[in-house]
Amino acid sequence: MQVPFVSLSPLHEQLRRDLHEQLDRLIDRSDFILGGEVAAFDSDYATYSGTAYSLGISNGLDALKIALRALGIGPGDEVIVPATTYIASLFAIIDIGAIPVLAEPDEYTYNITANTIRPILTPRTKAIMPVHLYGQPCDMDPIMALAEEQRLYVIEDNAQAQGATYRGKKTGGFGHINGTSFYPSKNLGAMGDAGAITTDSEVLYRQAALLRNMGSDKKYHHELIGYNARMDTMQAAVLRCKLPHLDAWNKERQRLADRYLHNLKDAGVILPQTLADAVHVYHLFVIRHDRRDALQAHLQASGIQTLIHYPVPPHMQPALERFGWQQGQFPTTEQISGTCLSLPLFVGMTDQQVDFVSEKIIAFTQQ
Ligand SMILES: Cc1ncc(COP(=O)(O)O)c(C=O)c1O
Repeated sequence: MQVPFVSLSPLHEQLRRDLHEQLDRLIDRSDFILGGEVAAFDSDYATYSGTAYSLGISNGLDALKIALRALGIGPGDEVIVPATTYIASLFAIIDIGAIPVLAEPDEYTYNITANTIRPILTPRTKAIMPVHLYGQPCDMDPIMALAEEQRLYVIEDNAQAQGATYRGKKTGGFGHINGTSFYPSKNLGAMGDAGAITTDSEVLYRQAALLRNMGSDKKYHHELIGYNARMDTMQAAVLRCKLPHLDAWNKERQRLADRYLHNLKDAGVILPQTLADAVHVYHLFVIRHDRRDALQAHLQASGIQTLIHYPVPPHMQPALERFGWQQGQFPTTEQISGTCLSLPLFVGMTDQQVDFVSEKIIAFTQQ
């Protein structure tokens, strides 16, 4: 049996007719830039997220950059961000001239917490960027309380957690202004690049809308130095087709994850742990094992594709050398990076595939 890490075909097969109809309508209207579908998706996604506003953006990195700029964060300001995250979270901060300050994750949930953030606050700290890594919400109440106490902004990076909830509230609705990515393999994925900003603040929404569109809301009049960071109308049409299915897809991810958790409970690997207050949407199902590379090779030899999120943590990336971070400086992050393995998990994956992957893992750990 072959098990790919991810396959998007089952999900797109289910929607093929709807997608064709949407695209046909778009061809008839030809409103390709900031067309009606973008405004309609903004409204749908705001409703879904439980925020007053949503704004379609070109991709997740641009969404985070614009969120930071809308808050007025810039050169000299420090922004706290996880040491364990996809590097784009840091790039957004660096690109607008601010300084990323890395917080270690909790060793069980892999997310930063108020306890790992507090010791690295300085008088220059302006904001915290919690990332809901792998689809699990951060413990947001203590983070929001710390931010309020210290008068800091919060920008959630919700790229990996669309639909996740913390104490009954959706992620992407806690921070002052938040960014997400609809990269095709995300829980809600476009058919190309796309992202969004969510916020309850009309002022931040308006500022972000200007920044997204060349600093302008009236043709050839520019209030700010902006970006071309508009969501593609075609992607908005695709996302509108998909959004009504997101909760069902997340439920299916949770069902597959539960099957793995059950199969692997005595397998001798570290399994994902979920906070009592959180609903995890398993963008990634990440296990840990001391002999991770050998386990990955064993699975590969059995036709099972796995990935590592992430093999080189941001503080060890050549692109970020100028920040002077050293090997050993973030031991929890390095421990996670050296032992983590993401198993296949996607909508349309069969129980037989989950069982096959589980059996091969058990065969490895018990040999
Ligand atoms: C945590 C995180 N932040 C930011 C991004 C950037 O999103 P994009 O690829 O849409 O720019 C991604 C995904 O790629 C991500 O996983």
